[in-house]
Amino acid sequence: MKYRKFGRTNWNVSEIGYGMWGLADWSGADKQEIDKALSLAIESGCNFFDTAWAYGDGKSEQILSHVVKTNAAKKLYVATKIPAKNFTWPSKPWFTLEECFPATHIIEYTEKSLQNLKVDCIDLQQFHVWEDGWANNDEWKSAVEKLKKEGKVKHFGVSVNRWEPDNVLNTLQTGLIDSVQVIYNIFDQAPEDNLFPLCRKLNVGVIARVPFDEGTLTGMLTKDTVFPKDDWRSTYFVPENLNSSVEHADALKPLIPSGMTMAEMALRFILCNDDVHTIIPGMRKVRNVQANISTSDGKKLEESLRLKLKNHRWDRTPTEWSQ
Ligand SMILES: NC(=O)c1ccc[n+]([C@@H]2O[C@H](COP(=O)([O-])OP(=O)(O)OC[C@H]3O[C@@H](n4cnc5c(N)ncnc54)[C@H](OP(=O)(O)O)[C@@H]3O)[C@@H](O)[C@H]2O)c1
Repeated sequence: MKYRKFGRTNWNVSEIGYGMWGLADWSGADKQEIDKALSLAIESGCNFFDTAWAYGDGKSEQILSHVVKTNAAKKLYVATKIPAKNFTWPSKPWFTLEECFPATHIIEYTEKSLQNLKVDCIDLQQFHVWEDGWANNDEWKSAVEKLKKEGKVKHFGVSVNRWEPDNVLNTLQTGLIDSVQVIYNIFDQAPEDNLFPLCRKLNVGVIARVPFDEGTLTGMLTKDTVFPKDDWRSTYFVPENLNSSVEHADALKPLIPSGMTMAEMALRFILCNDDVHTIIPGMRKVRNVQANISTSDGKKLEESLRLKLKNHRWDRTPTEWSQ
């Protein structure tokens, strides 16, 4: 595993971190397999774990708590998130800060996460949705400063809404936000336009989430894929999205080098960008942990392939199903 400096935090985070959403809200989660997958990730040097209170109302955080306790000799960075008070994903430009993140709510949910995680201090507490229009509202700043002063949170970050990478630029200028979590992959290259240059300038940590476009960039979805009703992906991969996603993924197939999978190519594309500090693929299977961590070997994609993949940028705008 290779490590990168996580912005101004001075942490050395593993290039491949661990996305923990699927452990709670996705169908097909097998507890024994997940335990093995988490153990293998840690043995292989993974030290950055991304969860959220909302992932199973604390269930994913509790799994992480167990992992941290059983690996107390190693420094594992714990990143979690505060849900908006109106529990609506994503936020909308007309939502007020008061209905999403009043100071009392930021403090209440940080306390809940501290209990679930069984730690005294959360390494990275993130806002689970965000509107840049809130940048200059003192309400959230007072809670951030209080929680840091009390030693309950080390650093704060923003997890930006899907396909809205610029919806945090003014907020970063406040100096109170040390990291951003953003969707960045072969399709979603828009963070390169404004967000990454600003993060570089301000030395803000960058977490690339959803590296496989929720599964499309593993090349394993087909137009006939059906998700169980209680799996959130059944509401995301509606026919309109599933069909075009599969077509976009199929267009990549001729480019995959021999001996490589589409998933490996997808991760290596992200690893080519030094503006990204850690990637957090969602993983529940041992074989996926093995495959994903093995991409952190310092070997870059051929430049000609990287340039071809740049042409597969797919700019999308939020819809009623995009969440
Ligand atoms: N608003 C937010 O803040 C927000 C939103 C979305 C996600 N996130 C974070 O980002 C993380 C990653 O996003 P995600 O989990 O939604 O989507 P993702 O990482 O794009 O895709 C996860 C899917 O890819 C599969 N997979 C992983 N490695 C693979 C491999 N090598 N080969 C084939 N399939 C592979 C996983 O399978 P298995 O699960 O079966 O292993 C899972 O079905 C989340 O877990 C969460 O921590 C945050």
